Amino acid sequence: RPGAQEWLPRDAADVDALARAAHACRGCELWADATQVVFSRGPQDAPLVLVGEQPGDHEDREGEPFVGPAGRLLDDALDAAGLPAEGVYLTNAVKHFRFEKRGARRLHKTPDVAHVRACLPWLAAEVAAVAPRVVVALGATAGRAVLGRPVRVTAERGRVLDLDDAEAASPFAGGAPDDGTSSGASDDGRPPRPVHAPRVVLTTHPSALLRVRDRGERDAAFAALVDDLRLAGGAAA
Ligand code: URA
Ligand code: SF4
Repeated sequence: RPGAQEWLPRDAADVDALARAAHACRGCELWADATQVVFSRGPQDAPLVLVGEQPGDHEDREGEPFVGPAGRLLDDALDAAGLPAEGVYLTNAVKHFRFEKRGARRLHKTPDVAHVRACLPWLAAEVAAVAPRVVVALGATAGRAVLGRPVRVTAERGRVLDLDDAEAASPFAGGAPDDGTSSGASDDGRPPRPVHAPRVVLTTHPSALLRVRDRGERDAAFAALVDDLRLAGGAAA
């Protein structure tokens, strides 16, 4: 069966072990054209986990998430929300860069639902390891990964979602924590549910803000992102 599951360590693993194992992942075709896997950064016991879409061009080259322009904007938004970036765990729904070649340039290409689904075991396992109180999904791709259903960011942002709002395809569906002893795939082949089911805040992706040309609109969008991050930080405190 396609997907990352068979590359995951067999027993419950910490983030370092997951990140090491992910270098070998062939769970979908995206590894082939990317430079390297981009796993995560930040404290492994952070109360707040932020999930982006996929690494971009800079991240692909450096091997670290959110080190390019979107990452700088996210840093600014976290600062404005009173959340030191060093205190949050940053990761992505998809761990390899998907792009289209245009001459020498590599243009970001949104991952398909199949890529999100293939990569989900990594996200499920790292959230299980970090056990945050709140997961922030940045944009629709991350929202789909976390909640297991299509999301509409504009309609669902600005509040703390319970996992009752997640569907069965979510690694966090059901809400109730399991007994913490499971490891590997469950009987139905889905990734194991995190021991600790977090709450979720959905907000815009910082990259979307970079594309807003109008200054006033961009400021308003930044302020809304900051509000959502502050809400998430409060819920995680
Ligand atoms: N955008 C993302 O979603 N993730 C990154 O790591 C960088 C840009
Ligand atoms: Fe594996 Fe995810 Fe990379 Fe696909 S994108 S090869 S599932 S790590």
